[in-house]
Amino acid sequence: MSERPERFIIDGKRLDGRSFDELRPIKIELSPLDRADGSCYLEWGRNKVMAAVYGPRELHPRHRQNMTRAVMQFRYNMASFSVDDRIRPGHNRRSIEISKVSREAFEPVVFTKFFPKTAIDVFVEVLRADAGTRTAGINAASLALADAGIPMRSLVSACAVGKVDGEIVLDLMKEEDNYGEADVPVAMTVGEEITLLQMDGHLTPKEFYKALELAKSGCRQVYGLQRQALVEKYNKDYSVDEDDARSDAGGDSDE
Ligand code: CDP
Repeated sequence: MSERPERFIIDGKRLDGRSFDELRPIKIELSPLDRADGSCYLEWGRNKVMAAVYGPRELHPRHRQNMTRAVMQFRYNMASFSVDDRIRPGHNRRSIEISKVSREAFEPVVFTKFFPKTAIDVFVEVLRADAGTRTAGINAASLALADAGIPMRSLVSACAVGKVDGEIVLDLMKEEDNYGEADVPVAMTVGEEITLLQMDGHLTPKEFYKALELAKSGCRQVYGLQRQALVEKYNKDYSVDEDDARSDAGGDSDE
């Protein structure tokens, strides 16, 4: 594990040179896996994640089928080589928790009622971790679901926000996540309905609302990149500009 830095902010900049409201660079590749129904590889700073979607497909064992809707199953897994200290392979409390909250982040947007008795399976494999892997996994899964043609009310876009050296900052990297004062992962729809909100650490109510606004602006930026990736793959003639993305989000916003 890395050492706790003495300070997280030096001359108004974070340890990796970012400003308080700046995301790490994001790179998206759609459909890298030809055996999945939909897939997405996503790099976010030094995180590398792969998402694969299968389905809707018949759910086995049959007693787990739901007669009125599809059952969504989400499996988040960190590869043993994804962190400094090798992780024991297999499920652990953390991966079970992340799989559960990630699944719940999608349940409000996926039209599961269209596919009774089936399963929609989402797999997220973290190949390299550097904080924010659950949000990276959700962003990749959102695109993999779209790539699989699963009908959804909206993409889901996620990013974390937190507090270091008393400042609210967007998109924590590893040192900020591990040693900072708070870590708040958020996921939301394009209409800014929040589908995931967790909090580790302490924030005052005022700090919390400031953090939430910053997280929303981060999610909007992520949404722009997700949309651009889909348009580039599926509709090359259509050009995305920021006004389009903003009108998708339900109007202008000037925070
Ligand atoms: O990755 P995320 O921020 O969603 O989850 P976390 O539980 O807050 O973990 C933060 C970071 O700690 C991970 O992204 C990894 O870089 C690191 N970590 C680790 O090194 N070993 C673990 N067993 C779990 C997390």
